[in-house]
Amino acid sequence: MKSPVNSFLERIYASCKNEDSGNLADYIPELASVDPHRFAISLCTPDGTVYSAGDCDALFSIQSISKPFVYALALRECGYDTVMAAVGVEPSGDPYNEASLQEGTGRPDNPMINIGAIATHGVLRETVGWESIYSGLCEFAGRELEIDEAVYESEVNTGWRNLALASLVRANGIFDADPHDVFAGYIRQCAAKVTVNDLSVMAMTLASGGINPVTEERVIPEWVARQVLSVMTTCGMYDAAGDWLTGIGIPAKSGVGGGLVGALPGQVGISAFSPRLDSYGHSVRGVKAFQKMSEQLNLHIM
Ligand code: DON
Repeated sequence: MKSPVNSFLERIYASCKNEDSGNLADYIPELASVDPHRFAISLCTPDGTVYSAGDCDALFSIQSISKPFVYALALRECGYDTVMAAVGVEPSGDPYNEASLQEGTGRPDNPMINIGAIATHGVLRETVGWESIYSGLCEFAGRELEIDEAVYESEVNTGWRNLALASLVRANGIFDADPHDVFAGYIRQCAAKVTVNDLSVMAMTLASGGINPVTEERVIPEWVARQVLSVMTTCGMYDAAGDWLTGIGIPAKSGVGGGLVGALPGQVGISAFSPRLDSYGHSVRGVKAFQKMSEQLNLHIM
């Protein structure tokens, strides 16, 4: 017999699947050719049970959803003071690819926008190598993730804006590494392939204070999970963060691969995937599904 949670997710799926507005993220050439009809939602409970509806085995690139997890790894490996010296925790109010730096400190505003995620990657790379960043992402998912080499190549050969952001951060003395390497490493973290089920487990790991509910291993200390969820709450949805928090009320992060994750402390990890995006770079169907789940399950944190 189907569980009530599965039936609920299937109803949400059915009520959103005809939404076909939005556009693919064609500034990364490889993403312009993904199947726009794909749609899946998933939910992971504190005991590690995963429920899903739709194309739950479809793999897609994690893109900006890697940012909170790499921020968590930076805090774990480098400590609070080092990471805070490199990147702030204030919402920028700007789009995700803006070159926003704080006056005075010269730091990026926060680790959720590209420039802040590049600074975070750069600082982390001064302490650990790529392999350790990659295995950290896998610890969150509880399995070996693959890198989408085609997506990586596509973005690393066209992402001039991100290369400029890496150079800008380097010029401000935020990290000492070669900005070309940091740029390439950041693009690689964005090219990790996940399913919605991976994302809901990763979100539940944050929501459970740092313990992966499936492997039962502690990935990050509790203070790191709190820090990451706080920054996701205020900055995760970029220049739509205020609308998102007041309307949907779930600490969340989106990616231009079409993924969307939300984490409610102690309660649930949620995710959605559908590649058509709104003007902020958020999955249109994903946002709609989150809105319905928030309303119907009363998930708003307030
Ligand atoms: O750096 C970029 O532009 C992409 N690799 C990731 C951007 C992204 O996912 C924005 N989020 N919605």
